[in-house]
Amino acid sequence: MGSNSTAKNLVVYFSMPETTEPENMSREEELSTVIIDGEVLGNTQYVAYIIAENTGADIFRIEPVTPYPLNHSELEDIAQKEQSENFRPEIAGTVENIEQYDIIFFGFPNWYYDMPMIMYSFLDQYDLAGKTVVPFIVWLLGCR
Ligand SMILES: Cc1cc2nc3c(=O)[nH]c(=O)nc-3n(C[C@H](O)[C@H](O)[C@H](O)COP(=O)(O)O)c2cc1C
Repeated sequence: MGSNSTAKNLVVYFSMPETTEPENMSREEELSTVIIDGEVLGNTQYVAYIIAENTGADIFRIEPVTPYPLNHSELEDIAQKEQSENFRPEIAGTVENIEQYDIIFFGFPNWYYDMPMIMYSFLDQYDLAGKTVVPFIVWLLGCR
């Protein structure tokens, strides 16, 4: 990345920390979060911050217009339904001038060995042709 100092980079990520409370977490909540200075971050969110910090990239968090539930089993049910219906959840907000970016870091948690469907919504909505796309995928065993 350092070889092209004029490149503009963007980190696009989706992350679903299953609680906002740093105390008394269930096992599932612990596994889907990182606590930094008392603030609860999702695992993918944490990796996204590290990438942005180290590359000077802009950052865009993909969030659904209809928020997902924090409850693990409710979230699983919705995720499975979305996957089986090949659904495209609507994204809140937009990336300004996506044309300006050369490198897109594209991060998401593994949901049933696929991307959360909202990542497909993003790919449908934005034309990334000609850009370097660097996926990063986070799951229980770490980041690949
Ligand atoms: C709906 C759903 C499906 C998941 N499916 C898998 C899976 O198939 N394999 C796996 O290793 N982890 C799976 N996980 C665990 C997440 O990948 C893992 O907790 C990840 O670190 C969450 O990242 P986040 O905090 O950025 O959302 C799943 C989690 C959820 C909520």
